[in-house]
Amino acid sequence: MQIQWYPGHMTKARRAMKEDMKLVDLVVELTDARNVSAGRNPDIGELAGGKARLILLNKADLADECVTSEWIECYRKEGIRAAAINAKHPGFKKQFLQEAQNACSAILEKDRQRGLKKRVIRAMVAGIPNVGKSTLINTLAGRAAAKTGNKPGVTRGNQWIRVDDRLELLDTPGILWPKFEDRLTGLHLAMTGSVSDDILNITEVTLELMSFLLIHYPDALTARYGISRENDPERLLIEISGKRGCLKRGGEPDYEKAAGIILDDFRSGRLGRISLERPMDIREAQDENCR
Ligand code: G4P
Repeated sequence: MQIQWYPGHMTKARRAMKEDMKLVDLVVELTDARNVSAGRNPDIGELAGGKARLILLNKADLADECVTSEWIECYRKEGIRAAAINAKHPGFKKQFLQEAQNACSAILEKDRQRGLKKRVIRAMVAGIPNVGKSTLINTLAGRAAAKTGNKPGVTRGNQWIRVDDRLELLDTPGILWPKFEDRLTGLHLAMTGSVSDDILNITEVTLELMSFLLIHYPDALTARYGISRENDPERLLIEISGKRGCLKRGGEPDYEKAAGIILDDFRSGRLGRISLERPMDIREAQDENCR
């Protein structure tokens, strides 16, 4: 299964982002802490050019804490500014403001030397669909300034939101890129809900997720659904359909419905804190591609 999704409005949004780059001091790029590598659109780095940048691993409350620490350490070693956050929780605001000031210290210092003491940092909030851009903005602003929703690809216009006298944020639509490099990238984006469900075969995506869980988080499915210890995802899906009473009209098992329940449970954290990617796996895959 090779998943690709690049609807037309994203080309337009990318063009707008390129223009808006001229207006900002800082690019705040959100990725999904469960999906750190696949969740980063390479186009954003390219468009940001030499701008100050801050990478936020959002939804850290849903990800495996040890894996998130590995990612932060990995970025630290590469000299990249990164932090793990839960955008729903206002606790990160102080840390965010400090990180934004640090990332822009060179610009702020230059302004200070020119006699400009109070300088508003203008930051673009960018990322793929569904990583929590609007949630971040709303939490920082303390009000519902940006539209949230779990449906990827909902178009919205770019808008400036004032957080306080130190920070203004530019809300941008979620953008993906025209071709995912490999099969896993598309799959992981589908699992975390950054690709529209309308183009997916939910049962296939869920079976892939279950195979991953059986290897890396072997207790997750049994703990949630009280099913047998079995290593065949298809047989487990049949068992879960029965346990959850997923039946079509006429009494036939409804595997697609059961798959939808499992995927939803993963996305909302009901299967536990799970990370799909570790820095080590990505490095190995890159080495593999180099051979
Ligand atoms: P986007 O602008 O990047 O497209 O994402 P948006 O803020 O709309 O967030 C997408 C979904 O992710 C929302 O769920 C939002 O609540 C959830 N979310 C965002 N940040 C976090 C986080 O740090 N942790 C967790 N657990 N969830 C987060 P939803 O189901 O669409 O909305 P709602 O029912 O929560 O309102």
